[in-house]
Amino acid sequence: MVVNVLGIETSCDETSASVLTSDFEILSNVVLSQDKIHAPYGGVVPELASRQHLTSVSYVVQECLMRAQLKLEEISAYAVTQGPGLIGSLLVGLSFAKGLAYYFEKPLIGIDHLEAHIESAFLETREIPFPVLALVVSGGHTSTFFMRKKLDYKLIGRTRDDAAGEALDKIAKFLDLGYPGGPIIDKQAEKGNPRKFSFAVPHMTDGSLDFSFSGLKTAALKQIKEHKISRRHPLLFDFLASFEMAVIKTLLANLAQAIKLFKPKSLILCGGVARNKKLRKHFAEFGQKRSLSFFIPSPVFCTDNAAMVAALGLEKLKSKKKFSFPLGLNAYPRFASFQPFSAQKK
Ligand code: KG4
Ligand code: ZN
Repeated sequence: MVVNVLGIETSCDETSASVLTSDFEILSNVVLSQDKIHAPYGGVVPELASRQHLTSVSYVVQECLMRAQLKLEEISAYAVTQGPGLIGSLLVGLSFAKGLAYYFEKPLIGIDHLEAHIESAFLETREIPFPVLALVVSGGHTSTFFMRKKLDYKLIGRTRDDAAGEALDKIAKFLDLGYPGGPIIDKQAEKGNPRKFSFAVPHMTDGSLDFSFSGLKTAALKQIKEHKISRRHPLLFDFLASFEMAVIKTLLANLAQAIKLFKPKSLILCGGVARNKKLRKHFAEFGQKRSLSFFIPSPVFCTDNAAMVAALGLEKLKSKKKFSFPLGLNAYPRFASFQPFSAQKK
């Protein structure tokens, strides 16, 4: 039987739709970015994001079906991001998918955005040795998951304040470099010396595997003021390279601690910040040094996209015999309850 899963992603500022076949072949993956809409504000404006999703979602799904050369009647199941994310934005995609699933009487599968980011690594490599430690680094999240097997996600650490991408975006905004700041810092830092400015790598004193980036951000703002760094300052590239390296070191120091405790066979790096060239390089060296398998999705699958949503939907569909179209499915803006690692039993 031919199975085509349509994925829809509207959790933040990308409207995306994708169709995958039952053997995980991507027939199409359309991503419409709202960067230009939010750029004047230096960050995502939730109300503008949800309105734009409302305008775009139907067009993006139509474009996705056209590229896949499929009709809606040929879609076997719908997968849609349920959360975490911006509630108004999530509701647009979720309601749209609900309508389609209800009309065509097809299964509707709610997808967790962070689990979908992890799935993006499996899009290109189906066989990843378990157990896995997955680091999700994006604009809204910095979280570590332990997976004993497929579809089994245990959140073992997350940021207590800013996400890594958010810290990069905020520093770029402060220096008036443009939006989103992550890719701009990635490019400009290439021309700088990462050892020019020193930053202390933050770590949790309570033994948890959580992250914190607000201290690093405050230290960066202090250095900006002290050295009068501006977008035209001769030390700008050195400053950005040093700050970027501090973020990378923070991520990898935390991962090193998690490896000691969880002893994984493989590592996954995913989420928008995983596009960062220096992070990709250091993560690869980190894995090689420890003789661990490591997987980083191609850049196009790191930032928000619906292919990862459809892939996880397909995986869930295959793992269950029966699926319904639960119209009660609701969006959730943030994680369900989470106990810091030190307080839980492994
Ligand atoms: O996963 P994503 O598309 O959305 C969320 O789920 O948040 O991630 C967006 C984040 C933004 O903070 C953006 O600045 C960052 O990913 N980003 C990068 C790069 N490309 C995107 N950060 C560093 N280097 C990049 N090349
Ligand atoms: Zn994301």
